[in-house]
Amino acid sequence: MAGRTRPDVCGPAVPEAPYPVYLDGLVEHGFGRGGKKLNTPTANLPLSSQHAVAESTRLAETGIYYGFAQLDVPNGESIYPPVDAKVYPMVMSFGYNPHFANKDKTIEVHVMHGYAADFYGKGMRAIVLGYIRPELKYDSLEALIADIEKDKQVGIASLERPAYTKYIQDPFFRQS
Ligand SMILES: Cc1cc2nc3c(=O)[nH]c(=O)nc-3n(C[C@H](O)[C@H](O)[C@H](O)COP(=O)(O)O)c2cc1C
Repeated sequence: MAGRTRPDVCGPAVPEAPYPVYLDGLVEHGFGRGGKKLNTPTANLPLSSQHAVAESTRLAETGIYYGFAQLDVPNGESIYPPVDAKVYPMVMSFGYNPHFANKDKTIEVHVMHGYAADFYGKGMRAIVLGYIRPELKYDSLEALIADIEKDKQVGIASLERPAYTKYIQDPFFRQS
C-alpha cells in the first residue's frame, strides 16, 4: 500500500481524552530493524506491567502516535550527559508492525534526539498526546521509511502548539 496523505498537524488545538496517556518501563530490544534499516532507532517499552497494559488500553486503536519522552533516572541520580536527560518530542508505533507481520503487539518509541549511547535496559517515560495514522503494510521498505519521515515532521509540528508544549513541564518528567 502506498503511504496515505495526512494533515501536516494532527489532532485538535488542545489534547482531548484519552490524552495524556502515561507510559513507562525499561527499554527492551526489538527485532533490530529500527536503527540500521529504517534510520529510526526505537525504544521498545514492555507491555508486561499492569500499569503499561492499563495505560495502553486507553489508546483505542493501534497506529502511529506523537508525544514527548525522556530517559528515566533511578533515584534522581543522573547518569546521562545533560543533553540526553532532557524531554524530547517522540513518535510512537503501537501495534503489530503489519509490514513485518509481528505476532505480538509492541510499543516502540522513536525519540527525536541523537543519544550518545544505547538506551537498552534504561528506563524511559513517555506521554502520548495525539494520533497520526493507522499502521500500514507497504509495497517497499523505501515507502515505509518515507512515511516514517513524514510522521516525524507531523509529530514535531503537532507538538509545537502551546497546549502540547506545556507537557514538557509535566511532573511525570524529571525537571532539572
Ligand atoms: C513513526 C513510526 C511509524 C511506523 N509506521 C509503521 C507502519 O506503518 N507499518 C509497520 O509495519 N511498521 C511501522 N513502524 C514500525 C517499524 O516497522 C519498526 O519500528 C521497525 O521495524 C523496528 O522494529 P524493531 O525495533 O523491532 O527492530 C513505525 C515506526 C515508527 C517509529
